[in-house]
Amino acid sequence: MVKVAPSILSADFCNLERDIERVSAADWLHVDVMDGAFVPNITIGVPVVQSIRNHTDMFLDVHLMIDKPARYIEQFAKAGADLLSVHLEADHPARIADALRTMGDNGVKKAVALRPITAASAVLPYIEQLDMVLVMTVEPGFGGQKFMEQQLDTIRQVRAIIDKYNPACELEVDGGIAPGTAEKVVQAGATVLVAGSAVYGAADPAAAIAALRR
Ligand code: DX5
Ligand code: ZN
Repeated sequence: MVKVAPSILSADFCNLERDIERVSAADWLHVDVMDGAFVPNITIGVPVVQSIRNHTDMFLDVHLMIDKPARYIEQFAKAGADLLSVHLEADHPARIADALRTMGDNGVKKAVALRPITAASAVLPYIEQLDMVLVMTVEPGFGGQKFMEQQLDTIRQVRAIIDKYNPACELEVDGGIAPGTAEKVVQAGATVLVAGSAVYGAADPAAAIAALRR
């Protein structure tokens, strides 16, 4: 069954513990880290991940939208991330490989993320060692944006690469996911759905999570 990972970007940061509790029916918790350089927005960093870890046993799926992420892998791992995603556009291939190696050394699951501009084939050098590929279906930086339909092609292409080289690898989709778009991305091959506004904007987040799973 498809996994649902609510994004706390849409939570009330003054009531984070309460808002994490509100999505406890979900499979994973998606944590968006932004540095104001790789993306225009600034969100949260290592100390907040550490605090979240101290208050929940949920699987922490940490999406690093930061330049040169290899610099911070060990810190996020020690703070309690279960999985880290680094963007392929955020550094040279050799440094992306370093970041993945450091994840392995620290017992964290490994993922790479693709901006909408990036071709599915960019995952090929890494695919055999990955636990997950994250395909963005909006331009990273903000919640509440419109789903980019043309990314369905990229999702299908990544699905074909995963099936060929590493069938156990998860395929996560992030941006503009709501029940209608969820159905399309699952048909295209997604196994993990990130949802911020569709979960936290709902009167009943648990029902919204169930609606995404169908
Ligand atoms: C955007 C973030 C997303 C965001 C999704 O850069 O990576 O995780 O929170 O928000 P929605 O589901 O509202 O598009
Ligand atoms: Zn995200």
